[in-house]
Amino acid sequence: MSYLEATNDLYKQAALTPDVGLCCTTNPIWELPGLKIPKIMQEMNYGCGSTVHARDLSNNPKMLYVGVGGGMELLQFSYFNRQKGGVVGVDVVDEMLEASRKNFKIAEAENDWFKSDFIDLKKGDALNLPVDDNTIDVAAQNCLFNIFKAEDLKRAIEEMYRVLKPHGKLVMSDPTCEQEMNDTLRNDDRLRALCLSGSIPIKDYVKALTDVGFGTIEIRARKPYRILAPNAYPTDELIYIESIEVAAIKDPMPADGPCVFTGKAAIYYGDEDYFDDKKGHVLLKNQPLAVCDKTAGALSSLDRNDIFISESTYHYDGGGCC
Ligand SMILES: C[S@@+](CC[C@H](N)C(=O)[O-])C[C@H]1O[C@@H](n2cnc3c(N)ncnc32)[C@H](O)[C@@H]1O
Repeated sequence: MSYLEATNDLYKQAALTPDVGLCCTTNPIWELPGLKIPKIMQEMNYGCGSTVHARDLSNNPKMLYVGVGGGMELLQFSYFNRQKGGVVGVDVVDEMLEASRKNFKIAEAENDWFKSDFIDLKKGDALNLPVDDNTIDVAAQNCLFNIFKAEDLKRAIEEMYRVLKPHGKLVMSDPTCEQEMNDTLRNDDRLRALCLSGSIPIKDYVKALTDVGFGTIEIRARKPYRILAPNAYPTDELIYIESIEVAAIKDPMPADGPCVFTGKAAIYYGDEDYFDDKKGHVLLKNQPLAVCDKTAGALSSLDRNDIFISESTYHYDGGGCC
């Protein structure tokens, strides 16, 4: 059995019998005025963060969600869109599609604004999406891509890139790990399917996105996720896994490389009213400007003693250079 088949099997079981501890998101379940998340969707929350950010969701974007789980985030996306077929949900596991379909009926009974036909559920594979080119404004996946091995991850990202419109956003949440993992962990199909042993360092995750062509990357959150300890897993050392929330934007690739925002800011504190680097970045005195890592590097290489560059917070919230 391949690791992809093992993954399908695991999520078939997780569809038939909800498993509350399957993925450990530290995000609270958020509800908005008039938005009620059914209990069964909360029990089937198999994500590791949130991909629903209000600022991505104005003007009724056409949305795609890959790997539907219990359907909670599709319902949250629908809240902002409220149109028939406004959110396309794709999953490769029949039982998961069936479970989410039932959950949307429950959501319909608990939310007077919601209709099940706001969600267009399709059987399909993240590696070969049943969606036309350049048709989606916001695509999302939560806790699926970390399961894929490198070649499949590349393919899954290429598929998302293909279906997005120019300037469309791919919004994701996935576990990441900065430590080496041994081959026993890496090759354990079940642990991989459980989102425990496929995670890669943030730098590699970002590179996988920019290699496919996404010109802008935003790291929006970085949080503790799991510990793999020697008493429970095949490892001699404690392995610390985090989860990140990331948006990859289908902007053209800048000639000097991608803009990757990791939460750095530049502050000019010199004697003038502002500092202009003549490359499109104007720093008003004593006002932080969010900068991508490329701009942060260029400003620090000026070696000035009146510009402060902060460390990455991994909490980028929009605005700034580029
Ligand atoms: C870890 S769960 C995450 C579910 C949901 N995103 C959430 O946050 O609760 C992974 C989901 O991806 C689906 N899945 C697994 N392999 C897939 C593939 N190759 N293509 C599409 N969906 C897949 C599973 O059935 C499951 O619904």
